[in-house]
Amino acid sequence: MNTLFAKLSAALLIIVVLMGGAFFLVDKINTRLYYEELTQRLNAPIAMYVTGQRDLINNGVPDLESLRELASHAMVINPTAEIYLLDAAGNILGHALPVDTVLRDRVELAPVRALIEESARMPVHGDDPRSDSMQKVFSAAEIRTDGQLQGYLYVVLGGQTYEALANDIDGSYIGNVSIVVAIVIVFAAATIGLLVFGLLTRRLKLLSHDIKRVGDSGFDLEPTIEPPLAGDEIDNLAQAFVAMSRQIKDQLAQLKENDRLRRELVSNISHDLRTPLSAMQGYLETMLIKGESMSKIDRDRYLEIARRHAVRLGILIGDLFELSKLDSASVTPSLEAFSIPELVQDIAQEFQLEADKKEISLSIALDADSAFTIGDIGLIQRVLENLVRNAIRFTPRGGEITLSIAERPESVTVAVTDTGPGIPEKDIARIFDRFYRAEQGEEARADSSGLGLAIVKRILDLHDSRITVMSKVDAGTRFEFDLPLYKHAA
Ligand SMILES: Nc1ncnc2c1ncn2[C@@H]1O[C@H](COP(=O)(O)OP(=O)(O)OP(=O)(O)O)[C@@H](O)[C@H]1O
Ligand SMILES: [Mg+2]
Repeated sequence: MNTLFAKLSAALLIIVVLMGGAFFLVDKINTRLYYEELTQRLNAPIAMYVTGQRDLINNGVPDLESLRELASHAMVINPTAEIYLLDAAGNILGHALPVDTVLRDRVELAPVRALIEESARMPVHGDDPRSDSMQKVFSAAEIRTDGQLQGYLYVVLGGQTYEALANDIDGSYIGNVSIVVAIVIVFAAATIGLLVFGLLTRRLKLLSHDIKRVGDSGFDLEPTIEPPLAGDEIDNLAQAFVAMSRQIKDQLAQLKENDRLRRELVSNISHDLRTPLSAMQGYLETMLIKGESMSKIDRDRYLEIARRHAVRLGILIGDLFELSKLDSASVTPSLEAFSIPELVQDIAQEFQLEADKKEISLSIALDADSAFTIGDIGLIQRVLENLVRNAIRFTPRGGEITLSIAERPESVTVAVTDTGPGIPEKDIARIFDRFYRAEQGEEARADSSGLGLAIVKRILDLHDSRITVMSKVDAGTRFEFDLPLYKHAA
């Protein structure tokens, strides 16, 4: 019974029964008032008629004989009328009813005056002398002799005869029918309401089933409901659920992918650390075993190899450390304005010797001599070094490398272009991944880790810049990124 449908139905039943009851009561009261007003208006002339016939009070003495005669006339017109003669203070002077059935000896005059002066809305109720407490509609007229107020003629309408008749009718066919009709209407309203609620809550029930099903499956299953785009609140709810479950599903997939990548990373790291380490270990152990029997030349060669592996290990650990530092949210680049052309010239100088060794021509193409930008000069230097080092490593003898700068209205574009082997299409999307190296000879593999471009990308991310790469196999590669142009007061 703890369903929304049960609660709504209970609420509806209570409302319908209360409304039905209230309507029934109001209708009963209204009918009575309507009847009373009608009776009072219809019978208003009776009192006038009776007083107009004879002088009922002469010098304060009531003429009871005439009263009785006139009362019996009036009863012919309206059998429920009961006639009383009152003095000017409202005391009952006489009537034509059995003596012991009249319980009061005076009548409150205020409603009588109100009716005569027409200052009150009908129906006006006055005291019924045949009861201690009842009030009834009445007709009344003043009795005057020579303009002097002698008393009143007071006619109670709907006297005891009426009461008896009305009680009869209450138990009659019409009364019963109206109760039955009221009950039928209440039932019909309740049934229609229950049907409508049932239809509405059914949709909620379907939705909650679907939510439970998808939730239980760990967001593996898709929602089956397809809410219309412009629907009511329930449709909006369903829509929110569909959107949310898709998002959760995507995020779960993303989490799984991240987890896979992290595992891969850890295994890559341990592999890359172990290789130089075990090589070093091997050479050192051999030296220990051979001891004095080794020639000095061999010993120097072994030591040199062990040193090279140690250096390589140092670089690898340094790169890893740098990447994790760049990854941690606490690192923010320390921004300052600096001249890009100067930085590029410094880098060119730094690599000139290495390039000469490989007979590669390293040139600069400056489109702007004094473009300033805002950035972390140390980090941007790292970016350029990594790009130029890659270019020198992958470009064969006799190739060309160009460092270029182009000034745009709002930014400076920096590019490193080489005439190397290019990068195959399938690799381009992955070269910025950590530890990713395209197919290359074992020799080249040994002293690279695949972290260089990951560091480049991370640094440029921190500068809100994106690196793009254009490459054609056997033609060359061009890495390019934008930095904001700093317009200092000249
Ligand atoms: N200029 C280039 N020409 C051709 N291939 C390139 C070039 N630059 C990068 N690549 C490819 O992208 C891969 C990833 O480069 P990245 O700099 O990240 O690693 P790496 O140079 O191999 O190692 P590390 O820089 O850590 O010593 C390289 O292994 C190479 O296959
Ligand atoms: Mg590199």
